[in-house]
Amino acid sequence: MMRTANCGELNSRTVDREVTLAGWVNTRRDHGELTFVDLRDRWGVTQIVFDAKHNSATHAKAKDLRTEFVIQIKGKVRRRPEGTVNQKIPTGEIEIIVDSLEILNTSPTPPFEIGEKSVNEELRLKYRYIDLRRREMVEALSFRNRVSKIARDYLDREWFLEIETPYLTRSTPEGARDFLVPSRLTPGTFYALPQSPQLFKQLLMVAGYDRYFQLARCFRDEDLRSDRQPEHTQIDIEMSFVEEEDVMRLVEGMVGEIMEKTLKVKLTRPFKRMSYDEAMDRYGSDKPDLRFGWELCDVSEIFQGSGFKIFEECLAKKGKIRALAVPLPAGMDLSRKDFDELTQWIGDFGAKGLAWMKVKGPSEVDSPIAKFFDAACLQKLTTQTRSKAGNVLFMVASDPHVSAVSLGALRCHLAEKFKVIPPGKFEILWVKDFPMLEWNEEEKRFQAMHHPFTSPKLEDLQFLESEPAKVRARAYDLVLNGTEIGGGSIRIHRQEIQEKVFRVLGIGPEEAENKFGFLLKALSYGAPPHGGIALGLDRLVTLLLGRESIREVIAFPKTQKGTCLMTEAPAAVSAKQLKELYIHLKA
Ligand code: AMO
Repeated sequence: MMRTANCGELNSRTVDREVTLAGWVNTRRDHGELTFVDLRDRWGVTQIVFDAKHNSATHAKAKDLRTEFVIQIKGKVRRRPEGTVNQKIPTGEIEIIVDSLEILNTSPTPPFEIGEKSVNEELRLKYRYIDLRRREMVEALSFRNRVSKIARDYLDREWFLEIETPYLTRSTPEGARDFLVPSRLTPGTFYALPQSPQLFKQLLMVAGYDRYFQLARCFRDEDLRSDRQPEHTQIDIEMSFVEEEDVMRLVEGMVGEIMEKTLKVKLTRPFKRMSYDEAMDRYGSDKPDLRFGWELCDVSEIFQGSGFKIFEECLAKKGKIRALAVPLPAGMDLSRKDFDELTQWIGDFGAKGLAWMKVKGPSEVDSPIAKFFDAACLQKLTTQTRSKAGNVLFMVASDPHVSAVSLGALRCHLAEKFKVIPPGKFEILWVKDFPMLEWNEEEKRFQAMHHPFTSPKLEDLQFLESEPAKVRARAYDLVLNGTEIGGGSIRIHRQEIQEKVFRVLGIGPEEAENKFGFLLKALSYGAPPHGGIALGLDRLVTLLLGRESIREVIAFPKTQKGTCLMTEAPAAVSAKQLKELYIHLKA
C-alpha cells in the first residue's frame, strides 16, 4: 500500500499507530538533529519529524527535501511534546516520528508558496495545478461537489431524470453570441455550442420525460465580468404539467436543502416574491439586494412646478426624479471631490447628472442646488425620503428607467463602500412579472427579455400585437444577495402562439422555420404545458462561500479576456487542420 492514512486524519486517538503517509512537502524546518516537515495532501497537513537520534540515515536523507517534493514516509504516530500542540488543525496534537523516507518525485521551486495569501491571479491561473493545492481551492471544489451532490440527490428523490443533451448543436437563443465549431464532414457549415440546453429540454417535454434535469455546461461568447465565464454550469430543470408556483416551490426545496446542509442556514419558505415593477421602483434593480434597506423614492411630484429647470425639463419629458437617502457611517464625510467622482461614476448608467444634498435638519440642507428650493419643498423632500440629519440625499432626474437603474447601482456601490452589508447574511427572493419584451433602440425592434419561448401571461395575450410593451411574461428569476442565481419561465406550448411571438419579435416565418423549425414542428405534435428554470451553479457556490469571483470556484477558469493562461487556449492551429475544415484565414 502506498499509504495507510491521509494527511488529515491522524490525531490523539491514533497515537502509537505505525503508518505510511504520502504527500507533498509543504514546509521543511531544519533544527540540526531534528528536521520537521509539514506533509500535505488534499486532506490536510501532518507534521513529520526526522530525528538523527532515532534514525540517522533517514535524517540525513531529509536534508535533500525541498518544498513540493512528493514523498512517502513510514513511521509511528506520537503525541507532540507539551507546549507544541497546534489547536488550529485537526492533526495538531500529534506528529509522526519517521523511520524511512522515499522521495517519489522532485519539484523545482514553485512559482509561489502554497500558503501565501496574496498571489497574483495571473500566476495562479498559469500554474493552476499548483494553485489548486491551496487549502482555499480544495475547500471550494469540495464545497461545489457537495452542492451538486445535494441538488442531484434532491432531484432524484423528486423523480427527475438526468439526461444529457448535445454540445455540438445549432444556435440557441439565450441572447449571447455563439461559439462556433466548423464541420469537417459538411464543409462550410458550423455547429454552435449550446448557450443552454433550452430547446432540447423543451423537446424532452414533448417526448414525455416530464421531469428532466442536467448539470449542464453552457457556452456563451459574451463580455466577461467577475460573475461570468464563457463556459458556466447550470442546474438545468424542466417539468411538464406545471405552473409558475410548481417550479418555484421545487427550487425552494432544493436551494433550502443546499443552504441547510452546507451552511446550516435555514431560509424561510416560501421565499419572498416581488414583481419586476416593484423591484425597479424600490431598489432600482431587477435583482435587488435585500441585505440592507436604503430604498429609492420617487420624488417627482415634490418638484413639479418647483422652478428648478433641470428637474422641470425632465418631468416635462415624462421623466422621473428619484432619490436615495444614504446614512453616512459615523465619522465619515463626503467631499466635493467625492461627489464629483460619484457623478462621473453614475454616468456609466446613463445618468447625466447626480444631485446631492447633505441633510442637516428637516428643511435644512447643504447642497449647491439648495438655493433653488424653499423650506416647504425641502421639508417635503426629507419627510418623503425619511432622511435625517447626517444623511446624504442623492437624486437623479432622467427617464424612468435610467433614474431607477443608476440610483440602484449607486445604492449597491455605496453599501459596499460603507461596509453596511453584514457578512454571512443571506437574502433570497423571486422577482416575477417581468415585461415579456424590451425595446432594442439600436435595432429598433422588440426583443425577448428572457428568451423567445417564454409564455406571455394569458391575461396579457390580447396586447401582444397592439401594445407589446404592456405584455408581462410568465418568467421568474431567483435572486440571492443582489445576484441573479437563476432564471426560468413557463414556456409557450402552442405552435400558433409561438409563431405570433416570433412575429412580434420581428422573426419572420422564414427565419423562424430556418432557426427553430424543428421546435415549431415538435410543438405541433402534442406538446404538453411545461416550464422550467436554470440555476447558475458557479454563481451559487461563489455566493455561499462568500468568494469574490466565480473563478474561485471553477477548477480551470478563463481570464476576463476568455483565455486559459495554463494551456494558452485559444491558440492558432496548423495549416493542415484549417485545410481539412475548409477555412482560409485572411492575413
Ligand atoms: P439564463 O440565461 O438566465 O437562463 O441562465 C441561468 C443562470 O445561469 C447563470 N449564468 C451564468 N453564470 C456564469 N457565467 C455566465 N456567463 C452566465 N450566464 C448565465 C445565471 C443565470 O441566472 N435556458 C434558460 C433557463 C430557463 O429558462 O430554464 C437560461 O439559460 O445565474
